Amino acid sequence: MYILGIESSCDETSVSIVKNGTKEISTVILSQMDVHAYYGGVVPEIASRMHVENITIVIEETLKKAKMTMDDIDAIAIAYGPGLIGSLLVGLMAAKTLSFIYNKPLIPVHHIAGHIYANNLVKELEFPLIALVVSGGHTQLVYMKENYNFKVIGSTLDDAVGEAYDKVARVIGLPYPGGPLVDKLSKKGMDTYNLPLPLNDKSYNFSFSGLKSSVINLSHNERQRGNEIIKENLACSFQNRVVEILTKKTMKALKDYKVKNLIIAGGVAANRGLRKSMEKESEKNDINLTIPEIKYCTDNGAMIAAAGYYAYLRGDRADLDLNAKATLEMK
Ligand code: KG4
Ligand code: ZN
Repeated sequence: MYILGIESSCDETSVSIVKNGTKEISTVILSQMDVHAYYGGVVPEIASRMHVENITIVIEETLKKAKMTMDDIDAIAIAYGPGLIGSLLVGLMAAKTLSFIYNKPLIPVHHIAGHIYANNLVKELEFPLIALVVSGGHTQLVYMKENYNFKVIGSTLDDAVGEAYDKVARVIGLPYPGGPLVDKLSKKGMDTYNLPLPLNDKSYNFSFSGLKSSVINLSHNERQRGNEIIKENLACSFQNRVVEILTKKTMKALKDYKVKNLIIAGGVAANRGLRKSMEKESEKNDINLTIPEIKYCTDNGAMIAAAGYYAYLRGDRADLDLNAKATLEMK
């Protein structure tokens, strides 16, 4: 079964064709990052307009790359939420139009389910599993007892981890999106700043706004005293706290739920420090760990097409009155 997946929830216009939820046939990702970098963050109005300009080109290129036509496609999967409403609407209209014209089933996909299923492109998910979802908009621990069955066991109480990375990057003076740059910088530094380990309790929840504020305050205080902050060290100290709490709570969830399979998903899954820490702890605790290839950690159509296959098997279908959702629970 060939599924065409469409992703436009933020600042990437991406389309992909995936066979049976596991094999990627072709993917095109058109990122608007350079444009938004100029403003220091994603400007929703600009994002929607750029999706409008790009969506048909990206669909055509994806089919061309696969040497396929719409006649070869069995269904269309669309990330209809959560995300920026104007951006989502562009992908959704394209998906509905294709579904209507070519008479193909329309499969609604939750953006985070997509991130989770990016791992299915590495190898088929094994259950039960715990998924750590770490992106610009989400930080969640999800328990899955079988395909397309999501139980959220922990979430962030405030900022998402990617959001905290991007804000810390701005304080350090790095451009948007700063997450990858903080990651890179931290490798050159030492853990010298005394930052708190955030929400270090028995729950599976997270909180990153306190840690982010500590970085901002520390940086202001040092500047007021006329001291320069050592950027590498601040990046390293921040990253170590983030990685430590993410690793600690994920390992606790695995132990409490007696689960041996772990997957990591979302943009921050590209983080070298997090990957290394999870690899080390997984080996120590005999955990079967899967992380997507770096290019499939951030938003892409392949993850939507992969998730769409299992949503389809579960019977999820949408018709032309499907609406985009800025916020959406994962069910
Ligand atoms: O999943 P994603 O592409 O978009 C959302 O669904 O939010 O994630 C984007 C986020 C951004 O905040 C970006 O800074 C962060 O992922 N990110 C990273 C790294 N690569 C991307 N954060 C830390 N380290 C990285 N290497
Ligand atoms: Zn995402």
